[in-house]
Amino acid sequence: MLKTLNISYLEISDFNKISKIEKKILNEASKVLDNSYSPYSKFKVGASVLLEGDIIVSGANQENSSYPCGICAERVAVFSASSNYPGVLIKKVAITTKSTEFKLEFPAGPCGLCRQALLEFEEKQKNNIEIILFNSKKIIKIASVKELLPFFFVESKLKK
Ligand code: THU
Repeated sequence: MLKTLNISYLEISDFNKISKIEKKILNEASKVLDNSYSPYSKFKVGASVLLEGDIIVSGANQENSSYPCGICAERVAVFSASSNYPGVLIKKVAITTKSTEFKLEFPAGPCGLCRQALLEFEEKQKNNIEIILFNSKKIIKIASVKELLPFFFVESKLKK
């Protein structure tokens, strides 16, 4: 039997349609692009995590000449948030990109590894994390990490 999964997201073109705090995290994600260390891919990614209490923790992708050592912006940001503010509720993650080499029409989404990493925080805190992807023209809002990871794997699957 063929079954279909749908995902819902909001597409926003008017940047005035988002809240003040959302504007702030978008701004922080854009600012941190300058701290991307990406001499190999020349693809900068910035991510900002909004925690309860309006705490913002940002991260940019960090690469290495031994390529697999590098780490994505989303995981830099969320692991840093968890290290500095353990147990504080993660409400939103804003993600943006900048590149001299590539042109992206649609705002880029997090890679599979980052989706898995974010999902574990969402599961642990039992509260959805909103993912906000954006570029200069468009904002995409996805209500939960689960929306981005159908048939996801979680730690409960490791238990007998
Ligand atoms: N990258 C991120 O920072 N986040 C993603 O979700 C996808 C990819 C980084 C990794 C690498 O430094 C560069 O973008 C090109 O893949």
